[in-house]
Amino acid sequence: MTEKIVLAYSGGLDTSVAVRWLKEERGYEVIALTVDVGMQREREDVQSRAMKAGAAKFVWRDAQETFVRHFAFPALAAGAVYQGHYTLATALARPLIARELVDVARAEGATAIGHGCTGKGNDQVRFDVSTQALAPELRIVAPVRDWDMDREAEIAYAEEHSIPVLVTRDSPYSIDENLWGRSIECGVLEDPWQEPPADVYEWTVAPAAAPDAPAYVEIGFERGLPVSLDGRETGPVPLVLRLNELAGEHGVGRADMVEDRLVGIKSREIYEAPAAVTLLAAHEALEALTLSKDQQRLKARIAQEYAELIYNGLWFTAHHRDLAAYVQSTQRHVTGTVRVRLHKGAATVVGRKSPKSLYDFSLATYDESDQYDRTAAPGFIQIWGLPVRVQAQAQREEEDSGR
Ligand code: ARG
Repeated sequence: MTEKIVLAYSGGLDTSVAVRWLKEERGYEVIALTVDVGMQREREDVQSRAMKAGAAKFVWRDAQETFVRHFAFPALAAGAVYQGHYTLATALARPLIARELVDVARAEGATAIGHGCTGKGNDQVRFDVSTQALAPELRIVAPVRDWDMDREAEIAYAEEHSIPVLVTRDSPYSIDENLWGRSIECGVLEDPWQEPPADVYEWTVAPAAAPDAPAYVEIGFERGLPVSLDGRETGPVPLVLRLNELAGEHGVGRADMVEDRLVGIKSREIYEAPAAVTLLAAHEALEALTLSKDQQRLKARIAQEYAELIYNGLWFTAHHRDLAAYVQSTQRHVTGTVRVRLHKGAATVVGRKSPKSLYDFSLATYDESDQYDRTAAPGFIQIWGLPVRVQAQAQREEEDSGR
């Protein structure tokens, strides 16, 4: 009996050639699965490509809501950003796609799953490790990693087997996109000294070309999750779509970085993530209002750990479960509204309020309504500075004189 494989199918060249290759070279019956995480492609078009490439069956899963609610928003609550700039769009979608692959594989009685990742990137790790975590019995086949074809050879293979490919021969970039952001690499970007050409950006206008008048948006959060825009309750997907559009129009969300891949390579990536960048700024501002200093300090460390875990493909792990429990606990009172100004590439928090605010005007103010007991300050300083004075006396060192 022919074994079945479920292939993560995007409709692009790699996965189209992979459909045929898995069938011809490996003898599989290929089920093409497209998981929609906000990729702006037409279902009918993707389906017809898959079938023309030789798939026995096509499955489409709309996972947009799941993606935002269960992957992107938890990462937002955690404050997960990799190496200071990458808001992890691609990395967050991989475990979800892997879970869908496993799901469909079980429903279809398939013995293997497949994906179109190369052997040099992080995504292969994320797909493989996630699949192993969820279904260790499934075989994983990665045609692009296994075959010995470069892009030209793939195009030739496609032509030879009359597989329809969008002749994006001229798009010099490798692009991955979903609701949480857009990742762009390859082409001239491989030279980290080269400024990215204007055409790499699609979701954001150049900050200098953005409107002179700023836009303001009020983002409402409940327990760390965004729930409204300008006072109107908004579901996760429309909320992210709207912010991608609005912040993108004002040039917010671009990043140009050299990052460290898990597989040991430094690579240059461009990102566009208008909604993610805006939401992260707003969320952080609300935490500053509602979390204690100690909570914020530890949480900032956990944020790093969380970002690493997402980046490194460890979503389906006990380690993640533990960190997620901590993060969720910290969000109990992260409820309120943040006003953000979007202007010429910057998302700037200009206002925040919360029913759970720890900010106390009567303590902070310098006016006459001041409730802070300043007579207690010298005593506090006396004790706080005690070990410093003791050490200064007992171990006076020349270079401590401040010069
Ligand atoms: N470097 C990012 C990551 O590892 C994005 C890779 C996405 N691929 C692309 N074609 N740009 O998550």
